[in-house]
Amino acid sequence: MPSDSKSILITGGAGFIGSHVVRLFVNTYPNYKIVNLDKLTYAGNLENLRDIENKTNYTFVKGDIVNGEFVHELFNIHKFTGVIHLAAESHVDRSISNPLEFVTTNIIGTVNLLNAAKQLWQPTLNTANKSPYRFYHISTDEVYGALGASGFFTEKTKYDPHSPYSASKASSDHLVRAYADTYGLPVIITNCSNNYGPYHFPEKLIPLALNNIKNNKNIPVYGKGENIRDWLFVEDHARAINLVFHKGKSGETYNIGGHNEWKNIDLIRLLCKLMDAKLNRPAGTSEKLITFVTDRAGHDLRYAIDASKIKNELGWVPSVSFEEGLEKTVDWFLENEKWLKNITSGNYKNYYEKQYANR
Ligand code: NAD
Ligand code: TYD
Repeated sequence: MPSDSKSILITGGAGFIGSHVVRLFVNTYPNYKIVNLDKLTYAGNLENLRDIENKTNYTFVKGDIVNGEFVHELFNIHKFTGVIHLAAESHVDRSISNPLEFVTTNIIGTVNLLNAAKQLWQPTLNTANKSPYRFYHISTDEVYGALGASGFFTEKTKYDPHSPYSASKASSDHLVRAYADTYGLPVIITNCSNNYGPYHFPEKLIPLALNNIKNNKNIPVYGKGENIRDWLFVEDHARAINLVFHKGKSGETYNIGGHNEWKNIDLIRLLCKLMDAKLNRPAGTSEKLITFVTDRAGHDLRYAIDASKIKNELGWVPSVSFEEGLEKTVDWFLENEKWLKNITSGNYKNYYEKQYANR
């Protein structure tokens, strides 16, 4: 392999954000060896990566980060120099009904990866800054808890997670930092706001609403729809991850966000308007599908990121406006009916057997 080649493990690459990160890295770095490790839970969909699956710098491995022995073996085979860790259980509602799954995957899975990196790298670790290695943990702004009407999360905001999902992510963030402090592992963490875009699994607000509007089904709005989220186009997140992985400083945390706050109900009304126009329905048709339902337990009121550190230190700002990003997203969901249908029918689960079983 050429001297600038790197062996990179991306976990959770068959999921929503992971698939955008894998695509960006595989297309941008022909000299890197990119290994995508994914268990293919309900959220993992290899159809997300159909366009790059035959690239020579890409390998898919089906496996579970909770299986420590397997993870160690994979590190020993591929001698990874970098890890970008996205694999997680990611849906707050599911964490409320099944917290243990989140503890297992998000905490134990992360520790298995940290242990494997430590075992492989420790013998040759220099000082953190000179080290050729990098363990990059992808986290969420939800670890900071909920904001009131004003203020922003900075990298110094105290952790105050409220859902089992955010508590499990907070715990994994702490463990990542503990491995830096205790064993000198070169780690980086980013905490990002809500993403949206193509390949978003239709259980999360935006893709669920688009799918329901298309099929004339009710759009469930939790509580009064007053909760606020800060939305970022997923490709902007992937670009930030690429930048932080290559230029971020070891031991640092960076917040990533879109400065793009929307009250849920306003966002849903906007989606209804866009879809009415795209589907040639009379204005106001889709809004009739809005249905207020029982609020989510422990529902955080507002998330909003102060992204000035990553802007000032690394020069990252979002490049896609919300208007442009939503337009792209709506068009993508309307043009990719088969992708959506394969999910709702469960067909997407057969893709691995069809494409990979005999490789
Ligand atoms: P996702 O649910 O779409 O994808 C998660 C992926 O991880 C899936 O492909 C799944 O199969 C895989 N996975 C789950 N358990 C696994 C295991 N035990 N072993 C191996 N693979 C496993 O999630 P996403 O929305 O793409 O989020 C990716 C990461 O980014 C997560 O760590 C999440 O906490 C974080 N994040 C997400 C958002 C967001 O808005 N979606 C925002 C900030 C941070
Ligand atoms: P979600 O997409 O689940 O992301 P997160 O909870 O991680 O922010 O939800 C976004 C917001 O939309 C959140 O305030 C909960 C709300 N929501 C609804 O009102 N209805 C829904 O059907 C879903 C899935 C979410």
